[in-house]
Amino acid sequence: MDTKFIGYLAPEGLEEALASELKHITARYGRLFLAEGPLQEVYWVQNIWLSPQIISFKSIKDAANKLRALQALWAYYPNVSIRRGELIAENLPYFAPKPLTFLSPLPKAPLGSWTLLDEGTLLCSPHCSSPFANGEVRFIETKEPPSRAYLKLWEFFTKSGTWPKKGDVCLELGASPGSWTWVLQQLGANVTAVDRAPLDPKINATFLKKDAFSLRPEDFPNVQWVFSDLICYPEKLYQWLQPWLKKDIQFVCTLKFQGKNEYNAIQQFKEIEGSALTHLFHNKHELTWSKTKGML
Ligand SMILES: C[S@@+](CC[C@H](N)C(=O)[O-])C[C@H]1O[C@@H](n2cnc3c(N)ncnc32)[C@H](O)[C@@H]1O
Repeated sequence: MDTKFIGYLAPEGLEEALASELKHITARYGRLFLAEGPLQEVYWVQNIWLSPQIISFKSIKDAANKLRALQALWAYYPNVSIRRGELIAENLPYFAPKPLTFLSPLPKAPLGSWTLLDEGTLLCSPHCSSPFANGEVRFIETKEPPSRAYLKLWEFFTKSGTWPKKGDVCLELGASPGSWTWVLQQLGANVTAVDRAPLDPKINATFLKKDAFSLRPEDFPNVQWVFSDLICYPEKLYQWLQPWLKKDIQFVCTLKFQGKNEYNAIQQFKEIEGSALTHLFHNKHELTWSKTKGML
C-alpha cells in the first residue's frame, strides 16, 4: 500500500468522535481508520499507524516471517479472524510488556502494529506513534488512593516526563475524593485542594471548600502548578483560565465533553500558546490540556 495512507486507532467507545474529526477516510477496520495522508492533527486517537502496508500471506508461519522481516517487535490489534491472528502472534518474537511502575521511563524499543483483514491478508505498520501496544498505557495499580482517577495523572507525568518536584506549590481544582491530591503528595508537592465536596478522610491536605471558579490568581501568588479535573463545560474553564495564563504557571487540566457543540472548545484550547491537547488512555470522553515545561 501507498504510505500516503495513515492509520488512526480510536480509543474504545470514541470511534465516532475520531470519525467526525478525520478527513478523507478510506477504510475502517473496527476501531482502526485508514485515511489519506499527510498526517492529520486529531485528538480522539490512541495510536497512529504511520506507515501502513497490506501484505498477502499463505500460512501462519509465512505471515509471521513477513512481519519479522520488517521489524522485531509487533503488537497485535485483534479485529477479524482473531484465532488465526493469535496463532500468528505466537510465531512472532515474544512480546509481553510488563505494566509500568509510576515514574518508570517510556519503553524505547520500536513497536509495530498489525491486524488481519481476512484469513490471507494482513495490514501492518512498522512505525507507530505510541511505544505502547495499541496505545494502552498499563500500570501496576494501587488501591491506596480513593478512586482510579490517579491513573490519568500517572499517565500524563509518565508520557510528558515532567511533574511537580518536592515542595512545588500546586492548586488543584475539583479534587474530591482526592486521588490526584494523593499523587501530588506522593511527589512531595505542597497541594491546596479545592472542591465543593469533601476529600476522602484518608487524604490529609490543605482543603478549600469553595466554588473553584471564584478563585483568582492574586489570591495565590506562589502557585507553580494548576491542576483541574473539574466536571464543567470546557468553555467555562477556558474563561476562568485567562488571568492565570498570564502567570508563570504550569497547567494540567481535564476537559470533559458531552456533546458535539462543545467541540469548539477544542479549538480554543488548542490555540493557547505553548500548550498541548491529548487523549490519554485513561481519559474517558475527555481530553487532557496541558501547558508544562515537558514535552507530550
Ligand atoms: C471527577 S471529580 C474529580 C476527581 C479527582 N480528580 C480525584 O482524583 O479524586 C470532579 C470534581 O469536580 C467537583 N466540582 C465540579 N464543579 C466544581 C466547582 N465549580 N467548584 C469546585 N468543585 C467542583 C465535583 O464536586 C467533583 O468532586
